[in-house]
Amino acid sequence: MNSIMQLTLLLFLLVGACRADYFFGDLKDWFDKITAPNEYCNREWITLDGLEADLGRNLIGQHIASDVILNAMTGFKNNDNPTKPLVLSFHGSSGTGKSLASQLIVKNIFKKGMDSRFVHFFDSVINFPHASQVETYKSQLQHWIRGNVTNCAHSMFIFDQMDKMHPAIIDGIKPFMDYQYKLDGVSYQKAIFIFLGNAGGEIIRESTLVSWKAGKKREELKLEDVKTALSSVVFDFWSSAFWMSINVVDFFIPFLPLERQHIVQCIMVEMVAMGLQPDHNKVCEMADKIVVYIPDDERRISVSGCKRVASRLRHFMQ
Ligand SMILES: Nc1ncnc2c1ncn2[C@@H]1O[C@H](COP(=O)(O)OP(=O)(O)OP(=O)(O)O)[C@@H](O)[C@H]1O
Ligand SMILES: *[C@@H]1O[C@H](CO)[C@@H](O)[C@H](O)[C@H]1NC(C)=O
Ligand SMILES: [Mg+2]
Repeated sequence: MNSIMQLTLLLFLLVGACRADYFFGDLKDWFDKITAPNEYCNREWITLDGLEADLGRNLIGQHIASDVILNAMTGFKNNDNPTKPLVLSFHGSSGTGKSLASQLIVKNIFKKGMDSRFVHFFDSVINFPHASQVETYKSQLQHWIRGNVTNCAHSMFIFDQMDKMHPAIIDGIKPFMDYQYKLDGVSYQKAIFIFLGNAGGEIIRESTLVSWKAGKKREELKLEDVKTALSSVVFDFWSSAFWMSINVVDFFIPFLPLERQHIVQCIMVEMVAMGLQPDHNKVCEMADKIVVYIPDDERRISVSGCKRVASRLRHFMQ
């Protein structure tokens, strides 16, 4: 190794003797390659920066989720000695911002963002599609979690479409999230697990409508108002062994259904992204045209949140 380096240097020197500018350019590239190529499992690469501002700017209409996420993340990151990994479970109907919120978390923790090698995504439907292979998936997943946490204690695991995950796989990953000093010599306390799913979406929608009918402002809606209703559904929904036995989930986070005013905001954001001047009347017209609202009598809540707003907007703006 040493002699190869010396040889390379010598070669550069010889070339450089004739072409000094090339020499320094090449040397710099070479130096950059060996000094800053990688991502490391340390505070320089893994922190918690700007999440509050980012959630405030980009996650529309989700004051409960924003607050709980921020508190959970800050508390966890400020704790040098957490007793268990952080486990968040996002609930809500489609297009309410669950994936977006998880992306914002990743972006503000890992300097390399979604490209970080310490973040691992799984989608139950894509990654674990066949019920007949559940045992294989389970042991593979256990192997990966163990391997990745061994490499970097701050690893993050995100599981999408959790409501379609096979109970046996869920059972298989449960031990990693528990209060456990060490499991087979590996400590999981600094890892973060995030689950995304639609379970509880209906209940959250109902709670929102009920409180709205009672004359309560959306912003006054608190976690407690949704939590009781949500927990019963969530407990029913998933294998009781997982959710009931020990509290592996630290925070159940509800994503409220998005209303017309939020669709308007999503359209504004999208128009700006398309390089268009968002005109208020046009935006309101679009909000009525491209989104279906429920319930039939009130027409208040978007069926699919802000999902497909972008593509439908493009279609109508042609
Ligand atoms: N609360 C929100 N604020 C801003 N944009 C949003 C919000 N909710 C959804 N969007 C936008 O709508 C699209 C879909 O959102 P996202 O993928 O986060 O939904 P989801 O809750 O994960 O839905 P699903 O349950 O179908 O996976 C994204 O482009 C996102 O930017
Ligand atoms: C880490 O997880 C990825 C999947 O995201 C997997 O491909 C890889 O093999 C795992 N690494 C180890 C060391 O287990
Ligand atoms: Mg999603």
